[in-house]
Amino acid sequence: MADLFSPYKLKDVELRNRIAVPPMCQYMATNGLANDWHRAHYASLARGGSGLVIVEATAVAPEGRITPHCLGLWNDAQAEQLRSIAAAIKAAGAVPGIQIAHAGRKASANVPWEGDDHIPEGDARGWQPIAPSAKAFGGLLPRVPTEMTIADIQRVQQNFVDAARRALEAGFEWLELHFAHGYLAQSFTSTHSNLRTDAYGGTLENRGRFTRETLAAVRQTWPEHLPLTARFGVLEFDGQDEQTLSESIQLVNEWKQLGLDMLSVSIGFSTPEAKIPWGPAFLAPIAQRVRNEAGIPVSSAWGFGAPDLADQAIRNEQLDIAMIGRAHLENPHWTYQAAKELNKKDPAWVLPPPYAHWLARYHDPRQR
Ligand SMILES: Cc1cc2nc3c(=O)[nH]c(=O)nc-3n(C[C@H](O)[C@H](O)[C@H](O)COP(=O)(O)O)c2cc1C
Repeated sequence: MADLFSPYKLKDVELRNRIAVPPMCQYMATNGLANDWHRAHYASLARGGSGLVIVEATAVAPEGRITPHCLGLWNDAQAEQLRSIAAAIKAAGAVPGIQIAHAGRKASANVPWEGDDHIPEGDARGWQPIAPSAKAFGGLLPRVPTEMTIADIQRVQQNFVDAARRALEAGFEWLELHFAHGYLAQSFTSTHSNLRTDAYGGTLENRGRFTRETLAAVRQTWPEHLPLTARFGVLEFDGQDEQTLSESIQLVNEWKQLGLDMLSVSIGFSTPEAKIPWGPAFLAPIAQRVRNEAGIPVSSAWGFGAPDLADQAIRNEQLDIAMIGRAHLENPHWTYQAAKELNKKDPAWVLPPPYAHWLARYHDPRQR
């Protein structure tokens, strides 16, 4: 039976355990360029012992950034800055992953600690967001986006392909498409945000077209032997969940046929009215349902930060990989903490030798 510390192989990539750091925006970039902050942050997370570190949502186009301080991958200079980050993650023994993204109607916002709200129209720091339809998210994000033309759709799909190629050239070995959280791709699938009457709106077939075409195009560029995954909000907690979940499972099945290797099961965040039942491991049964009904490996986040919960989700075959987010911000050496709490043999040796040697010696506090 697999547990949290069992290795995991997907395509030609092997993770040393089932622990992953999910993408977490740092909002510390200028002009989409990574800097010393990102290098230190990601190297530290990889040294902590997880099997996979996925670099934060990285915009495929300037207008696809959530905030002016998000990372980008729409030019080669940005790829060059990310190269040393991929190398540092790999040198620490984790697999370097990256999430490529377009924020759609949620773009042009202030960073969370400066409000998390839309930058006012007319403020030079912001820009005009684009989306499937000219409908605002609402709440803190009231700005009405411009409805995308077919040419806009094709341009953004090409942006995803170009970003995937740059990610590969920069040394990433695991690519995640951000199809979640009410950003552009999710907003095409959701009736909360897609009011189109052309081939990209209306029926599920049409609402799924943007994601199908984008995935298929990226798969042509991203090598077959490396994992191509997507993060998707499979439900909204908006009272329509049975229908949304069954539609989502249908979409995931279609993506699987097009070459998707794993789904990161998440929440739609397509409406500010959602009533999300936050709690420890609350998405585990939903992830398991997607895993079984779509027949695809799954990961998930949201509340697996207690090691026994993450371990149980793997043992119960609810998840193939457990994503541990905020708990890694609290303790970049979370994997070591988990190894101790789960009574693994020689827990310190999940860390690199310059740490492990000393911690192993002094693991027993009575010997200190
Ligand atoms: C600071 C921060 C930034 C985040 N940025 C992203 C992101 O770039 N892409 C994404 O898909 N999710 C993002 N998320 C969501 C996390 O990946 C994760 O799903 C969430 O933190 C819940 O997992 P946890 O309970 O282990 O923290 C972010 C979360 C946090 C706390």
